[in-house]
Amino acid sequence: MISGGCDVVRLAERFGTPLYIFNESVIRQQCRAYRRAFDSYAGGATVAYAAKAFLSQAMAAIVASEGLHLDVVSGGELYTALQAGFPASRIYFHGNNKSDDEIAMACEAGIGSFVVDNPHELARVDLEGRARGRRQRVLLRVAPGIEAHTHEYVRTGTQDSKFGFDLETGQAMDAARLAAAAPGVELAGLHAHIGSQILDTAAMEPLAQVLVALATEIRRETDVVMGELNLGGGAGIQYREEQSPSPTAFARAMGDAVVAACTAADLRLPRLAVEPGRSIVGQAAIAVYRVGAQKHVPGLVPYIAVDGGMGDNIRPSLYGAEYTVVVANRMGAPATQRAHVVGRYCESGDFLARDVSLPSVRTGDLLAFYCAGAYQLPMASNYNRVPRPCVLLVQEGQADVMVERETFADMDARERLPERLRSQSVPAAT
Ligand SMILES: Cc1ncc(COP(=O)(O)O)c(C=O)c1O
Repeated sequence: MISGGCDVVRLAERFGTPLYIFNESVIRQQCRAYRRAFDSYAGGATVAYAAKAFLSQAMAAIVASEGLHLDVVSGGELYTALQAGFPASRIYFHGNNKSDDEIAMACEAGIGSFVVDNPHELARVDLEGRARGRRQRVLLRVAPGIEAHTHEYVRTGTQDSKFGFDLETGQAMDAARLAAAAPGVELAGLHAHIGSQILDTAAMEPLAQVLVALATEIRRETDVVMGELNLGGGAGIQYREEQSPSPTAFARAMGDAVVAACTAADLRLPRLAVEPGRSIVGQAAIAVYRVGAQKHVPGLVPYIAVDGGMGDNIRPSLYGAEYTVVVANRMGAPATQRAHVVGRYCESGDFLARDVSLPSVRTGDLLAFYCAGAYQLPMASNYNRVPRPCVLLVQEGQADVMVERETFADMDARERLPERLRSQSVPAAT
């Protein structure tokens, strides 16, 4: 198996497993595809990579060099981006509960825009803006009451959601009035994100309609023009056999929907912003595991255990995510069995792939999971005190470490054993 011109089996021998391998060309190709796709929108477009899908300093540097903007949702993501030299002015700061310190940190760094989620945050941003004698650019995040046809855990646009100002009860309009009058804030636009792994783009039409209707109302009441509409991210990718929208199809659905809604409302075309995460980085990586134990019970689907699992990829346990799995050291071997691929963690729900077709597998074989780039490593944990994997970036036959494999010492680095416990006597076992 080859990735980025590198032999995956050799990489696994050299760097150990579990191993995440990101192909730089695929990331760059997706960034460019998105920029090209939105070029045809007449109002001008901004493509921001949603860092929550996967962020490292190298990833931030790649995205910056491709001319994209960046969405961050925490002080930690902001810190990593700034460490990589990502231009602060091209950063959007999202999140439903930004702390006062995070808001201050972002203002201090000079970030481009806040996507404001609630009245408390609006007041804090206003305060920070005033303290610095400037107007901080903000978009208001709206809960548009629109359902994307996707898993409920990655659905974010319904009325009953923790994200954004509610549209139906007038909370979004109230927030716009407050923002328009706030001296430390520049109300620049509206934002909504209805979900992730969206395969059917039909919801873009009602989404654009409700945002344009709100923009029209805001202009009528406050005279403030919403110069930017950000319709979020969410384009799905092909994990198995599903049909996913290309960047071009996604851009066309968003662009056409905004143009139609603005034409109907006689509104000048706003700038269109989009925030893809999964569809930039998801297909760019594979996760490689070494097979260890196997359990066969007559009449039942066998279990194949690997050296990773829910600690580096919680998605199958969390919401039943499915993957395409291959034996990396015997590519093309015919499938001869159904098997569960399970992890090494002490939970029965620690599945990586349930009841999938595989060739016969021996201890020591390498299993590679495709589409491992998004929402896996950012949700990784040290459950069972298992160190997190090594992450590589490959390109034209060269492999560079993006994130070193965590060590036991790394995991213990923040441990403090109080002196009184260190010096206490330990009785002999009875
Ligand atoms: C506000 C917002 N924007 C963008 C994204 C990126 O979505 P995706 O990775 O599905 O493109 C998310 C993901 O949940 C999000 O919450």
